[in-house]
Amino acid sequence: MQLSDIRVLVACEYSGIVRDAFARLGCYAISCDLLPSDQPGNHYQGDVFDIINDGFDLMVAHPPCIYLSSCFGSYARFSDRVFKRLQAAEFFMKLYSSDIPYICIENPRGVMSALFCQWDQEVYPYYFGDPWKKRTCLWLKNLPLLRFTGNVVEPGYSLTDKYNDSYRRSRFSPAIAEQMAVQWTDFILENNC
Ligand SMILES: C[S@@+](CC[C@H](N)C(=O)[O-])C[C@H]1O[C@@H](n2cnc3c(N)ncnc32)[C@H](O)[C@@H]1O
Repeated sequence: MQLSDIRVLVACEYSGIVRDAFARLGCYAISCDLLPSDQPGNHYQGDVFDIINDGFDLMVAHPPCIYLSSCFGSYARFSDRVFKRLQAAEFFMKLYSSDIPYICIENPRGVMSALFCQWDQEVYPYYFGDPWKKRTCLWLKNLPLLRFTGNVVEPGYSLTDKYNDSYRRSRFSPAIAEQMAVQWTDFILENNC
């Protein structure tokens, strides 16, 4: 197997940040979101379950977190919100249970650690060289923990301080994306030689 044989699906991504990190290495990479991609590149606009069985080796998924976050729980006595939380948890679990050998699901801390299992790794962009804070939890299936490549001293501001719109705040860290691509393609190649 070589880099160009690795097929990567980046689910629930409109920014193309993780997709392009894998594509730059020479992998086949496609992002998928209900929204159009805001960067030119290989993108499927639609439901991820339309394409999830198309023979991917690796999936990185960023499922919506609004209904899974801990702070949403304080409103959970409203039944419509309970149903939304259950649907969001089902979506997360369908992604995790899909028939793709290597899977990473990225989400903030929230109810999935109680409903399902504790995340495997908690990372921050500054651990990899992006100079901001944004706690990110990774649920990993058959993938190793990421090795930190940046400074682990906490910087002064978070993405929530910098932007007040959820569209920009939910964009993924390019530095983490780059290390996902470099470290996990190495791992897949070593395991499939
Ligand atoms: C928190 S945002 C993730 C943004 C991502 N971090 C990025 O950099 O583009 C979650 C995304 O999931 C998408 N989404 C929700 N349901 C989906 C589905 N069934 N198939 C594909 N994408 C979906 C939403 O449109 C939204 O853009």
